[in-house]
Amino acid sequence: MHNSWRDINTLYHIYPRSFQDTNDDGIGDLPGITSRLDYLSLVLGVDAIWLSPFFTSPMRDFGYDVANYRQVDSDYGTLDDFKKLLDEAHRRHMKVMIDFVPCHTSDQHAWFKESRSSRDNPKRDYYTWRDPGPDGGAPNNWLSQSGGTSWTFDETTGQYYLHSFLSAQPDLNWDNPSLRKEMTDTVRWWFEQGVDGMRVDAIWGISKDPNLADDPQNPEFHGEHPSEYGHFIHNKCKYGPNFTNYLKELSDVCHEFENRQMIFEFYPDDKIGDFYDQYHQVAAEVNPDVASTFFMELIRSPWNADMLGNGLDRYINYAAKDALPVFCLGNHDQPRIVSRVGESKARAMALLNLTLPGLSVIYYGDEIGMENGELTPSQVRDTFSPLNTSDTTRDLERTPMQWDHSARASFSQVTPWLPIHKNHRAINAMTELSDSSSMLSLYRRLVRLRKQYPVLRIGSFTRLFVGSGYVLAFKRELDDQRVYVVVNFADQPQDIQLPEICSYLVSSQTAPRERESREAKPTLRPLEAVLYIA
Ligand code: GLC
Ligand code: CA
Repeated sequence: MHNSWRDINTLYHIYPRSFQDTNDDGIGDLPGITSRLDYLSLVLGVDAIWLSPFFTSPMRDFGYDVANYRQVDSDYGTLDDFKKLLDEAHRRHMKVMIDFVPCHTSDQHAWFKESRSSRDNPKRDYYTWRDPGPDGGAPNNWLSQSGGTSWTFDETTGQYYLHSFLSAQPDLNWDNPSLRKEMTDTVRWWFEQGVDGMRVDAIWGISKDPNLADDPQNPEFHGEHPSEYGHFIHNKCKYGPNFTNYLKELSDVCHEFENRQMIFEFYPDDKIGDFYDQYHQVAAEVNPDVASTFFMELIRSPWNADMLGNGLDRYINYAAKDALPVFCLGNHDQPRIVSRVGESKARAMALLNLTLPGLSVIYYGDEIGMENGELTPSQVRDTFSPLNTSDTTRDLERTPMQWDHSARASFSQVTPWLPIHKNHRAINAMTELSDSSSMLSLYRRLVRLRKQYPVLRIGSFTRLFVGSGYVLAFKRELDDQRVYVVVNFADQPQDIQLPEICSYLVSSQTAPRERESREAKPTLRPLEAVLYIA
């Protein structure tokens, strides 16, 4: 694959466990993904895929607890299956991005087994070990994102080890140069196998305060429980002095190869500072030619045209200016977009996502409008946070892909690891393919337009005011091509004024606008998004 990531329009995010099962164990696998590449490339038209982890893992965090970075877990297949998938994707001119988890391993990783075996083991310092605090308890007040303290006492050597997530996910110590070399070698090894890029997981903990000082209290926190995460401002357990240095060292490996890219998973924290300064730090200051960050505000922002417009402008024209901008509406950690905002808004957001510069990411199933799963407490599989219930678990956004209306949606021949959504009889790829008003038809149209009009990928981005505060509007321009995107955030019609007479290319809504009308003063329907061309 010799084209650059800047030529790629859309990146499709696959959660391998839930995409396609081929060996009747109810778990999606790599051969399953290979078998669906024609859907991705020909039907949907995406030109790159990103796979959540498929490495050897005890699956306490479904693969984000890696026990061997260079092996494929038997749930998903073999390394040969992966190479076949890579070849088949490349044959279709699709790039393949994999997930890299730099900040912790599984407690079953060979390094951790060695590290915990004795205080003078050579791998001891690959992780962070400390004596108990003065009161005999945890060494400091840091909390785990999975709930409770981030320290676990280990009897064998009488010390605590640090874990920013589950106790089964001990944090790696990036201050150790041999560990850093192991990690960069791993990235190098995957690039040598032909992988085109890495999505890099949970980067904020890669560097910590060297003195392990307590996190300060958050004065705005009013929760009851002392171990609730919001209790503290997390500026000591994260964003240490080597935060960007280590990210640079990691992403510098891309420079040893051609056309490799990293995308960091990074949620700026408003307790730490300005959102866009934080995006800037990671997107612009690290390695803008080969590394950037997802823009997470299409997921997190309140439903407000001005706030989102301002955020997009600051991310595109400031934070990620020289980097590759990356947009997404969801992922395997966030409730499904249709369940978050409803179908009309999800359609408008789809149009927005696919008309922004850089790379538009589509989370598997969002292109057919999949909704959050419906689970009983006994069906919950994700034990990542003890606070999660069957209404809040991340399993809701990880249910099997709905391929057709058959009993198991053609995901598997047996009962799958998470239940298929009951709505799959209507919401599925096959049914939607023959319905021109379906979510899938909208996505196909948008993906095709994005390919047809490079202005959408690489044109400039200028925010516009079009006469209504409820309308987010921007101009995209490349040479003599100009397109306009308008999104009506109100559930009332809005009259707007475009800068020039335009024709419409696509609307987010089912009933088409009148195609023949070339106009400068259209009326937007409630919650409608439209792409116009001058
Ligand atoms: C990231 C992943 C999430 C995982 C966590 C710990 O946020 O997206 O799924 O649980 O990191 O690795
Ligand atoms: Ca399987």
